[in-house]
Amino acid sequence: MSFRKDFLWGGATAANQFEGAWNVNGKGPSCSDMCTGGSHTVSKRITRTIEDGIFYPSHEAIDFYHRYKEDIALFAEMGFKVFRFSIAWTRIFPTGMENSPNESGLKFYENVIDECLKYNIEPLITISHYEVPFALTEKYNGWASREVIDLYMNYCEAIFTRYKGKVKYWLTFNEINSATMPIGGFLSQGILNEGTTDFTNQVDIPKLRFQGLHHQFVASAKAVKLAHEIDPSYKVGCMQLFATMYPFTCNPDDIVMTQKDSRVMNYFCGDVQVRGEYPTYMNRYFRENNIEIKMEDRDLEILKDGCVDFYTFSYYMSICVSSDPENASTGGNILGGAKNPYLKSSDWGWQIDPKGLRYTLNEIYDRYRIPMMIVENGLGAYDKKEINGNINDDYRIEYLKEHIEQMKEAVEDGVDLIGYTPWGCIDLVSASTGEMAKRYGFIYVDKYDDGSGDLSRNRKKSFYWYKQVIESNGEKLENIETVLA
Ligand code: BG6
Repeated sequence: MSFRKDFLWGGATAANQFEGAWNVNGKGPSCSDMCTGGSHTVSKRITRTIEDGIFYPSHEAIDFYHRYKEDIALFAEMGFKVFRFSIAWTRIFPTGMENSPNESGLKFYENVIDECLKYNIEPLITISHYEVPFALTEKYNGWASREVIDLYMNYCEAIFTRYKGKVKYWLTFNEINSATMPIGGFLSQGILNEGTTDFTNQVDIPKLRFQGLHHQFVASAKAVKLAHEIDPSYKVGCMQLFATMYPFTCNPDDIVMTQKDSRVMNYFCGDVQVRGEYPTYMNRYFRENNIEIKMEDRDLEILKDGCVDFYTFSYYMSICVSSDPENASTGGNILGGAKNPYLKSSDWGWQIDPKGLRYTLNEIYDRYRIPMMIVENGLGAYDKKEINGNINDDYRIEYLKEHIEQMKEAVEDGVDLIGYTPWGCIDLVSASTGEMAKRYGFIYVDKYDDGSGDLSRNRKKSFYWYKQVIESNGEKLENIETVLA
């Protein structure tokens, strides 16, 4: 048993992290456009206005907006079958509140989609990937307000209608469950509470985040329904940030704590989006955290009517849960957790755990029994360009190889895995730190954290390796010694 013949090999990106052209042809500012650069140790800042002389990494990013033809040609050269990208809501509705869509935004994505189709690359579109229109933050405090549901639906209607017949796969919200953590308040929901300046240390009002999540669940369910009405062949998925959790020890306190944390973080949102109802375990969590979700009469029915067609997730690392506060944290940017003595970490403290991917795929598939895609995975690393221009990223090849081997095991275990899109297939801006130095790509982009760089593209060693992986449908995984272009 191995990967299915029509397995979707590809790569993943997000508009705010690679398009640039943040205010071009009518585009409005998104929440990401209001974030300055940062690093592993210094938090990005969120500014309410654009400050002079300050570097905002999303504003130019890697300029995919003007270079999409060149970039998609490189993806095609690797043999991509699928390309995951997001639509910037603010290119279509600059403030999120206009009555009609911005034609030049619609046209841009139509061009991108057509360019993919030219190479038989299936577009996989994230409707909202960490880029809530900033005007909705100002007016409504983002998804904390119910009004945003209707605005999101206008946006969905515009894109579902325009790209009918060209697109098959949609994802309603990127890593929707990131909003179970304080960092997701602004990142995913555009909630900006008074006093917040640091991205990694937001003034947090959990009640608002969970209310925001309810609004996103309703919006997601409505979007699934609308998509199917507009084009019955559309497939709409959910997308979760899966932070696989292990008990740090066999102490029952660690076991129970792991189950509790993992339910809230990893399973809650998927349970709602796949099963169409709130899981009972959340009642206790809400009670103990003084959270009361305001619902309208029909909401539960809407959730039931809008279950997703497939399940997708990002997987980078696993963490350990310990009931002993003395246990050192891994120091990852978004997720903490106790250090696992059996695993190595990336330079950003993300614990590398390929077997955890097999375990996770099995756990999720057992729970839901619907087709699955891994829509993000990869190693954020410092790449060095050698004098001859080569980038020998053997560490990245090793990381991906080990993860693909475990995907294969999971397929043998019976998991219905339909696709794999490693993150940042071309170098782009990091979501957690705002850095360019944290690179994931098969393609190197000449762009640096001070904003310099000529934006030229270079094939890394992993580019040739991944091409071979796709050509062999995941059979040839060994490293290659290629003459680099
Ligand atoms: C996921 C996001 O959390 O991880 C991406 O969906 C993000 O937007 C990716 O870029 C990797 O994280 P980071 O912080 O290394 O960019």
